[in-house]
Amino acid sequence: MKHYDYVIVGSGIAGLYSALLAREHGSVLIITKGSIDECNTKYAQGGIAAAIGRNDSPELHFKDTVAAGDGLCDEEAVRILVDEAAGSIAELVNLGVPFDTLDGEIALTREAAHSLPRILHAGGDATGEHIEVTLGKRVRSLKIPVLEDSLATEIMVENGIVYGVRVLDYHTGSSEEFGCRFLILATGGAGQLFKLTTNSDIATGDGIALAFNAGAEITDMEFYQFHPTALHLPGVTPFLISEAVRGEGGILRNVAGNRFMLDYTTDGDLAPRDVVARSILFEMEKTGSNNVFIDVTHLPLYTITTRFPHIYRFCLEHGLDITKELIPVAPAAHYMMGGIRTNTWGESSIAGLFACGETACTGVHGANRLASNSLLEAVVFGRRIVEKTSGKVRLNTPIVSHSAAVHHFLNQRPKLKAVPALNLATLQQLHWEKVGIIRGKEGLTQVAKVLATWQKSLPKPTDRPSYELSNLILTGRLVTEAALIREESRGAHFRTDFPQSFSQWQHHIVFTKSSL
Ligand code: FAD
Ligand code: SIN
Repeated sequence: MKHYDYVIVGSGIAGLYSALLAREHGSVLIITKGSIDECNTKYAQGGIAAAIGRNDSPELHFKDTVAAGDGLCDEEAVRILVDEAAGSIAELVNLGVPFDTLDGEIALTREAAHSLPRILHAGGDATGEHIEVTLGKRVRSLKIPVLEDSLATEIMVENGIVYGVRVLDYHTGSSEEFGCRFLILATGGAGQLFKLTTNSDIATGDGIALAFNAGAEITDMEFYQFHPTALHLPGVTPFLISEAVRGEGGILRNVAGNRFMLDYTTDGDLAPRDVVARSILFEMEKTGSNNVFIDVTHLPLYTITTRFPHIYRFCLEHGLDITKELIPVAPAAHYMMGGIRTNTWGESSIAGLFACGETACTGVHGANRLASNSLLEAVVFGRRIVEKTSGKVRLNTPIVSHSAAVHHFLNQRPKLKAVPALNLATLQQLHWEKVGIIRGKEGLTQVAKVLATWQKSLPKPTDRPSYELSNLILTGRLVTEAALIREESRGAHFRTDFPQSFSQWQHHIVFTKSSL
């Protein structure tokens, strides 16, 4: 068995950035299930948040983040995020990320629920692509080994300590084990749970399933963020129309051409993401339509083509000239707030196992992520993982923090006789309809039973699709059961049968394998 100091699973921003820092302290192997640049990171549009503007401060960034998180942010983690943001941006600039500038200074835009312009971007709306390409180039030039087309399938643990990972080369079908001192999961999200998603195909909840099966704590899974505005064109998979489009003056209109957001909230078009997504859903229902519109036709042509070149081109290629026509949009699944429960050094509840990026739950997002905080989170906490593992930090931090966490049991569900045939499309449809933006007990219970039955009858996975399906079923169970347990509405979790939030629910729901 080959042995490394660090094995890092995933090659998005969290994996690549951690690898670049970790190489200074030991040997590193990156394992990734597609090619190096297959990830959600490269699709990020709006940008990365940091309080570097003249009138801004980490304190304001803190307040906005905590307000969006709706009572469930870990304030210590948020403080770290906002205080270490400017330093992280400087490091990205040093690595060569070409942030856009205006009059010689880094340009900043606004996104929903940020109290002032705070979002750095690159290539207009191609921030993620620039970050991914820059980090990928650096990893290659430093000759950090990257094992592509390799699927992590099992975490190896002995006496409560992680010592390696099993990996499937799905082209040959052969498995190999890699030993390590530190295993960092940077496997991204789980958008593929839902029929409509902005996420790439790789987002199948693998990290959650790997960590859960190894015995780690998983938390906040009921909080899944839906982006309000994905392009809604027949036959075209949802493509993000960045929140920054509204930040630069884009206006939401219903199918009759009327503005409607002020009918739902005084925050209007730039209300928090969960509020806008639900308002759009209500407006679509009210007007009997499958979409609303974003209108940018009043903006100068130059603003549209230089700030949003990628969106402009994509729409044009699909027959829509957004400088002249309204953009049809509808909500789509976007970001998993929950994940592998970590402390502020990225440590999970298992010794030697770390999590970074979207698969981790550091506690910074609470019940609803503030836009553009996730790229930042990956960089800030990636650095902290390396600081901790390289021995720079000798603090005795408890393995997991965010207090007020309550461990719950996953409901034992009886095996049903009649369930729909198991396939990815049915799983995605069920989640979209019953575990989506608006949920209720009846629909959630139905999905919980179907998932439990599927899970019991699932043959042992052998190839990439069967591993991914199995991971999605497990991740879906964790989302659905948590959504059932939380009998209130908070942040991105909205229950029709419990539309209010309650102070007794101001705690985190945690699952481990022993909750089964
Ligand atoms: P990813 O970038 O998704 O990378 C995950 C990696 O893990 C991939 O390389 C994948 O192949 C690998 N992997 C997964 N499972 C396995 C396995 N079993 N074995 C081996 N490898 C595995 N956030 C912002 O802050 N600002 C934005 O403007 C923004 N815009 C967004 C736009 C879109 C369209 C989307 C989808 C998301 C956006 N987000 C944005 C969210 C943000 O992009 C992601 O949260 C972030 O990029 C996640 O980075 P990551 O490194 O954790 O995961
Ligand atoms: C967007 O550009 O709207 C996405 C930003 C984010 O998800 O953080």
